[in-house]
Amino acid sequence: MERDTEVSASFVVVANRLPVDRVVTDDGSVAWRTSPGGLVTALEPVMKKNEGAWVGWHGAPDETLDPFEDGGITIVPVPLSTNEVAEYYEGFSNATLWPLYHDVVAPPAFHREWWDAYVRVNRRFAERAAQVSDTGATVWVQDYQLQLVPQMLRELRPDLRIGFFLHIPFPPVELFQQLPWRRQISEGLLGADLIGFQLPGAAQNFLRLVRQRLSVQVRRDRVTLPDGHVARAKAYPISIDSRGFHDLARTPEVTARSHEIRRDLGSPKVMFLGVDRLDYTKGIKQRLRAFGELVAEGRLDPDEVVFVQVATPSRERVEEYRHLRDEIDMLVGRINGEAGRIGRSPLVYLHASFPREEMAAMYSAADVMVVTPLRDGMNLVAKEFVACRDGDNGALVLSEFAGAAYELKQAYKINPYDINDIKSTLELAANDSEANKARRMRTLRKQVFDNDISHWADSFLSDLDAEVSPE
Ligand code: ADP
Ligand code: F6P
Repeated sequence: MERDTEVSASFVVVANRLPVDRVVTDDGSVAWRTSPGGLVTALEPVMKKNEGAWVGWHGAPDETLDPFEDGGITIVPVPLSTNEVAEYYEGFSNATLWPLYHDVVAPPAFHREWWDAYVRVNRRFAERAAQVSDTGATVWVQDYQLQLVPQMLRELRPDLRIGFFLHIPFPPVELFQQLPWRRQISEGLLGADLIGFQLPGAAQNFLRLVRQRLSVQVRRDRVTLPDGHVARAKAYPISIDSRGFHDLARTPEVTARSHEIRRDLGSPKVMFLGVDRLDYTKGIKQRLRAFGELVAEGRLDPDEVVFVQVATPSRERVEEYRHLRDEIDMLVGRINGEAGRIGRSPLVYLHASFPREEMAAMYSAADVMVVTPLRDGMNLVAKEFVACRDGDNGALVLSEFAGAAYELKQAYKINPYDINDIKSTLELAANDSEANKARRMRTLRKQVFDNDISHWADSFLSDLDAEVSPE
């Protein structure tokens, strides 16, 4: 493999997305903006600390760009054609793997040409990573879009230390085995030295899968391949730059903006908040329906409460996402049509992406954060809310099916499939005593500050760095 003459890094992250997306604005000028989603929120501070190279797609089709520097990170853009965006990204990644790995909450679609594009694009990422990695470098491959890269990269560059982290759930064998390409994906992952999952249950699902389906030896978290290569599979619950979010929320500008938000909302007694990518796994419909019913039944007074739902546009050309957007639009219209009056709507719906300062102001302004995914690898929004609180006030309503529930045990837990449970828990969180809320929030804050993103990255990277001890 011919090395790149310009870029050579000892620490390389490979992810479908770069931390910044290239967008062409209405007047034709080019701008870079922060990419959506938890992966970028989590990894950006890690990269800034490690000063490495980030290999990824820049979010626009049919453009080949040269590497460039951005805030101490060497950005290495990987091009995707329009057809590859449709087949590899929207197709295999987001209409096959995404629903399959999230408990098939939507039916996964299996198309052989999508798979071919996935293999082709994974190979391109592996080759680009191989070109820009120094001898003996650490390469950290991210997420479900690139599960073949570890094995491809090991074949190209056996000198590298290769880590892989899956940001989304890993399904039970019973679901995973639907995938026609289950063997190739499992073998692709096993090319890594260390495979990280959000939760111990996901690592167990993977280990059970390879034990049952491949000719490998599995002992505890170690998988030994026929050629002697050892891959370990372990859980590393991801987190955020907790101190960074906390400090941002305490700046005079953000504090002032947070007061302004409450004033603009009519100074409600209780402000509920939902923040998500507009994704069918996030349980947005369920939470809005629960809120709408509480208002309709008079259990919440629309003169006293407001629900702000922020939804970042996401994967808008994938059919399931288009449907979801229409359904949410209708639901919001119905709830406000029934319970609103002139000058006051109980539900404020913002279909937009906001700068981090504005997110921090919203988290500070809210009384009850409502996080109700049907299935979620982690959910960083829940942690961001906790980190942004000033003291032990506020309440977090959290789905049992979010990875975050594993650590944030003191949240007000709900089953997102049970609308009555969401309703009674929203009521409880809104009306609970200050002492009860403070007791819960104190524990949540300790958890989020003790286990921040540096802790996550350091644990993964030191395990990756450690020599595999003989059995
Ligand atoms: P996912 O990775 O599935 O999108 P997470 O909850 O883990 O879910 O991460 C979402 C990230 O995107 C968080 O960092 C959150 O602050 C950010 N985010 C969500 N909605 C918006 C929005 N409307 N504007 C800006 N950032 C957003
Ligand atoms: O964390 C899950 C994830 O799919 C990331 O891999 C991704 O970057 C983020 O959500 C946002 O999704 P997308 O890159 O498809 O916009």
